[in-house]
Amino acid sequence: MIRPRRFRRTKALRDLFQEHHLMRQDLVLPVFVHDQVESVDIAAMPGHRCLDVISMLKHCDYVLSKGIRAVAIFPSIEAAKKTSDCLEALNPENLMCQVTRRLKKAFGDDLIIIGDIALDPYSSDGHDGLVRDGEVVNDETVDLLAKMALQQAEAGVDILAPSDMMDGRVMAIRTLLDNEGHMDRLIMSYTAKYASSFYGPFRQALNSAPKSGDKKTYQMNMANRSEAAVELDLDVSEGADILMVKPAGPYLDIISDYRHSCGLPIAAYQVSGEYAMLKAAADAGVCSFEDSLMETLIGIKRAGANMILTYGALEAVELLHSNTP
Ligand code: PBG
Repeated sequence: MIRPRRFRRTKALRDLFQEHHLMRQDLVLPVFVHDQVESVDIAAMPGHRCLDVISMLKHCDYVLSKGIRAVAIFPSIEAAKKTSDCLEALNPENLMCQVTRRLKKAFGDDLIIIGDIALDPYSSDGHDGLVRDGEVVNDETVDLLAKMALQQAEAGVDILAPSDMMDGRVMAIRTLLDNEGHMDRLIMSYTAKYASSFYGPFRQALNSAPKSGDKKTYQMNMANRSEAAVELDLDVSEGADILMVKPAGPYLDIISDYRHSCGLPIAAYQVSGEYAMLKAAADAGVCSFEDSLMETLIGIKRAGANMILTYGALEAVELLHSNTP
């Protein structure tokens, strides 16, 4: 008789038969930075702060010392620099470019820098693309995004991550980067990015919520699975190197589909609301933050993700250390 409980009798046996492992190498930490003299707490994201530039440098040193080698940087732009033409996104002296140059000077290639490509931090309308007559316009936005990616590549960003969901942006970014000699820079496309209610704490951190309307004309309908395959085919054909699914937890089917339909690395983004929810549940005494964080991360890994962006990266690394016998 087959008795699967034989596999589970002791901790050593359970470890021997464990199919999937979370490793510190899988994890990417998102970090927020702003152009003020002091860091500020982010109310909706316990344990996370919008860092001033000096604190950001120190934090990255700490993050590296813990064995995490990739950060996704999100700049919080002061209101006075947000406009409807979003031109601050193209300024080679903008916060993102300055921070990148300082990080590269301090840590060189030890630290992988991921730069978000979308206009929302710079937009007085709070949209990822240019707004004209109440509509988010596609092709004009794509031109700006490609130029934005070029500025970031020149500043030293290793992985350009378009999170805007405009059509054709991966091809435009790839073409401009290649023409300008940056054929070695990776593109991590937010391939299946859903119009989700879990982005709230992030928008609070960047003060970037849409001023009117929502993002449903460009981010995907949460009920759609086949359409994710269309986005996948497009991103692969346009030259994306890494394909991302976002959010992660409610979209494990999409992660699994991607894993089985393509050989490229798959990233998953456990977003701000997913993290905040675990913290809130733990605060309410519903479950342990540590246990539930690890369960969600191993679930994302088991579904097929090769890399995971998570606000819990530092906590997860501590737990991985403490679990080693
Ligand atoms: C902006 C962007 C968003 C996130 C990453 N890049 C927010 C949005 O699309 O409104 C969300 C990340 C998170 O919630 O942690 N293009």
